[in-house]
Amino acid sequence: MDLGLNNKTVLVAAASQGLGKAIAEGFTAEGAKVFTCSRHTPIQCDLTNPEQIRQLLETIGPIDVLVTNAGGPKPGTFSAISDADWEATFQLTFMSAIHLIRGVLPHMQQQHWGRIICLTSTSVKQPLDNLITSNAIRAAVANLAKSLANEYGQDGITVNVVAPGMFETDRLQKLIQSRADASGYMFDEEKDILRRTIPVRRFGDPAELAATVVFLASEPGGYINGVSLAVDGGLTKSV
Ligand SMILES: NC(=O)c1ccc[n+]([C@@H]2O[C@H](COP(=O)([O-])OP(=O)(O)OC[C@H]3O[C@@H](n4cnc5c(N)ncnc54)[C@H](OP(=O)(O)O)[C@@H]3O)[C@@H](O)[C@H]2O)c1
Repeated sequence: MDLGLNNKTVLVAAASQGLGKAIAEGFTAEGAKVFTCSRHTPIQCDLTNPEQIRQLLETIGPIDVLVTNAGGPKPGTFSAISDADWEATFQLTFMSAIHLIRGVLPHMQQQHWGRIICLTSTSVKQPLDNLITSNAIRAAVANLAKSLANEYGQDGITVNVVAPGMFETDRLQKLIQSRADASGYMFDEEKDILRRTIPVRRFGDPAELAATVVFLASEPGGYINGVSLAVDGGLTKSV
C-alpha cells in the first residue's frame, strides 16, 4: 500500500528514545523527511519552554505531519501530587501540545492538508492507578484534539489521538519500579502481574505503535478524524 508519505515533512516531538523514536523510524521507512526533538537530541527543545518550541518550528519550516509527545508525567495518587507537580504536568503534557499545534496549523491550512496525531495514554479512556496527573491532564489533550478535529477538518487537516497501553520502553520500566516500590514485590513479579492484565498477555513493541501513527498520517488514513485510538492489546475495558 502506498501511504503517500514520501517527502512529507514530519515532526515527532520527544523522540530521543522510546515511542517517539520508534514513530520517527516508522516515518523514515516511508520516505518522509523526519525531524525529531528532545532535550538531548541534535535539535534540542525543552517542550515546557514556549520560546524553544517557537525556535524549533522556525528552524524546521513548514510541517505536514505533527506528532505531539512529551515525557511522562510524575506518577502518584492525589495526596502525593503538589500544586507544582500539577503545574509541571500541565506545561509538559498540555501546553506543549498547544504550542506545537498552534505553530503548524497556518501552513497546513494554507496547503489544505495536514495531519496531527497526539500521543497520550489509555488513561484518556480509563483512569490508571497511581497516575492521577496523567488521568486528568491527558483527558484535556484528548478533548482538545477532538475539538480541533471538528474545527479544522474543513481545512483538510485531521487530528487524532493515539493512546498507548503498555509498551517496552524506559518509561514502562520506571512505572513498574514505582509499583514494585509501593507493593513490595520484586520488579519481575510486578512486571508479570501487569503483563497478565493485558488480554494478549504481552507488552507492546514500540514499532507496533509506530505503524498505527504512520497509518493515521497517511493518505489512505485521511478519513479517520477525531478518534481516540487505544493501542493496548485490549487492556482498556471500555470501547
Ligand atoms: N511506554 C508506554 O508504555 C506508555 C504508555 C502510555 C503512555 N506513554 C506516554 O508516552 C510518552 C512517551 O513514552 P515513552 O515510553 O517513549 O517514554 P520515554 O522512553 O521515557 O521517552 C520520553 C521522551 O520524552 C523526551 N522528553 C522528556 N521530557 C522532555 C521535555 N521537557 N522536552 C522535550 N522532550 C522531553 C525524552 O527525551 P530527553 O530526555 O532527551 O528530553 C524522551 O525522548 C510519555 O508521555 C509516556 O508517559 C507511554
